Amino acid sequence: MFAKGKRKRENPAPAASECRKRAIFAARRPVSAAAIFAKSRMRKSRAVPSAPAAPESKFFRESTMELLRVENLCKTYGEGENLVKALDGVSFSVEKREFVAVIGPSGSGKSTLLHILGGVDRPTSGKVFLDGADVYSRTDEQLAVFRRRQVGLIYQFYNLIPVLTVTENITLPVRLDGREVNPERLKELITVLKLNGRENHLPNQLSGGQQQRVSIGRALMNAPAVVLADEPTGNLDSVNSQEIVSLLKESNRKYGQTLIVITHDENIALQAGRILAIEDGKIKRDERLRG
Ligand SMILES: Nc1ncnc2c1ncn2[C@@H]1O[C@H](COP(=O)(O)OP(=O)(O)OP(=O)(O)O)[C@@H](O)[C@H]1O
Ligand SMILES: [Mg+2]
Repeated sequence: MFAKGKRKRENPAPAASECRKRAIFAARRPVSAAAIFAKSRMRKSRAVPSAPAAPESKFFRESTMELLRVENLCKTYGEGENLVKALDGVSFSVEKREFVAVIGPSGSGKSTLLHILGGVDRPTSGKVFLDGADVYSRTDEQLAVFRRRQVGLIYQFYNLIPVLTVTENITLPVRLDGREVNPERLKELITVLKLNGRENHLPNQLSGGQQQRVSIGRALMNAPAVVLADEPTGNLDSVNSQEIVSLLKESNRKYGQTLIVITHDENIALQAGRILAIEDGKIKRDERLRG
């Protein structure tokens, strides 16, 4: 039930869209960096500036530039012969309201990056700033509050609490925070997520798509600054996948939330405004598709 977008959607010319598809495929093939960046330059020249989204909801967040900054992030696991460099000097920044797709081969460090962005796992070195605040200068207790209030995490296998109902799962972060549930927001989310009539169902009484919609509700309930999704459609068929992506895009537009989505699905990556390609723990490509 998201209101129709006031923001004009870009309709890229067929040539530009083809170009993007080739770039994604390029990310999966061993192609020279020069070729990738040549294509990237061509796309940049066709970039269409996007209009700011309208403040349609009272939960709308004001838009101002940088939300997230990552400086020289490194994460290693194990030691000696078993040492794995999961992230190796990753730096980038993300603006408020951006929709970023993170792509890369299995084991390249995508989930590690997302967990560090979300305050789930401390980096070995490097810094993460959210809204100008140094995330890892916090104690573990402060980090737990940060995760509940400022980050919405969505996983491939939903991670719902099996003994809690739809409503209880969605409102969990608010209740864990010892705060009152905003009934208006809950009602709006249930409607938007098409979960009306399912409020008292348990997760095992729901389809995969419905369970993922509940996990989106849980991620959005606290109106976090950033929504981080790790292969949110990895367990769904193509129809449900597109529905989930549409919901995430609408929440990005309607609530002004910054959205970072890991995906192996090129159709999803191509719907983002920007693609970060990761390989061997490093950013190999950072490309704006629009906006
Ligand atoms: N807890 C851990 N202990 C040891 N090594 C780990 C741990 N977590 C991740 N790794 C290693 O770090 C590297 C990056 O893992 P990560 O899960 O971030 O990859 P990914 O890009 O998300 O892969 P996939 O697409 O398969 O989910 C891999 O080599 C992985 O084996
Ligand atoms: Mg992963």
